[in-house]
Amino acid sequence: MIDLIDTFNRVHRDLRVSLTDRCSLRCTYCMPNDFNSWLPKEELLTTKELITVIDIATRHGINQIRLTGGEPLLRPDIVSIVAQITELEFPPELSLTTNGLGLAKLAQPLFEAGLQRVNVSLDTLNRKRFHEMTFRDRFEDVIDGLQAARLAGLSPIKINAVLMQGVNETEAVELLTWALAEEYDLRFIEQMPLDAGGKWDRATMVSSERIFADLSSQYSLTAVPVRGSSPAEEFFVNGGPHKVGIIASVSKPFCGACDRLRLTSDGQLRSCLFSQEEMDLRKVLRDTSRTHEEISAEISSRFIKTVRGKLAGHGINDLSFVQPHRPMSAIGG
Ligand code: 5AD
Ligand code: SF4
Repeated sequence: MIDLIDTFNRVHRDLRVSLTDRCSLRCTYCMPNDFNSWLPKEELLTTKELITVIDIATRHGINQIRLTGGEPLLRPDIVSIVAQITELEFPPELSLTTNGLGLAKLAQPLFEAGLQRVNVSLDTLNRKRFHEMTFRDRFEDVIDGLQAARLAGLSPIKINAVLMQGVNETEAVELLTWALAEEYDLRFIEQMPLDAGGKWDRATMVSSERIFADLSSQYSLTAVPVRGSSPAEEFFVNGGPHKVGIIASVSKPFCGACDRLRLTSDGQLRSCLFSQEEMDLRKVLRDTSRTHEEISAEISSRFIKTVRGKLAGHGINDLSFVQPHRPMSAIGG
């Protein structure tokens, strides 16, 4: 049944599922180096609970699941989670957003379990800068992970890059040249106010316009006409077929076409990254006074309520904007 339709007639087909809030990197736009207020393990949804929620979501028209974190590959039973999702009655398209560190080991088993594609976060091609930006000296591991993903057959492989003023802002062209040579699909994402430290500043954000201008100094970019619900504005590079994406979440919000919902690793359903409200699914899943059928019915009803309550947009550009109280790593990219 396709019934996750909000009051602005947006049909929700995509659920981002965070498997853990933990991460093996400390990207400065996400969390401080000394960040360690992780959720206690018992607060995370168990795999059985996760699969129950995803199964219900797919019965309401969700046909795309993206596994995220924190770093989803830190979840010990990630391969089994992927296998169980692909075995559902209504198997969704399945992808995963990762920092790439675990891919060298896991790409092959994940592909065999049914994973179709991956998004890998990589903001720089300079090892020293990678270390500075993530507080970990793991650049080579990401590159090895990417190669393993390709060898395993995961396709397409998308790269997400965030540019920051005074840090890696000059790397747009270099990243694109590299991605074209390696045949990875590159997308730049404007930095959003989602850091645990609350240090985001609009004035220092590298805008989509600036990224477009930088890339245009070396490449001819022409807009790809059909966009659908994808947040990335896509451009053919030098006439195609290769493309590059720019996600202007802040300067050109795409909320009007949003078809996404998010499930945090502790079982809270959110209608937007920037929601101030969450719907508690974990409490329902753990309610021992209810039967399995009653629990399923209540989860279904909470999905519908969350969608009905979805606001028109994220409001980052409103004076009254308040940053969500959890960082990206806790909500799930
Ligand atoms: N702004 C923009 N992108 C972010 N990501 C994490 N935090 C932010 C932020 N504050 C990116 C990660 C990952 C994707 C899920 O979101 O780099 O690629
Ligand atoms: Fe980890 Fe992703 Fe946050 Fe970087 S952005 S610290 S990889 S969760």
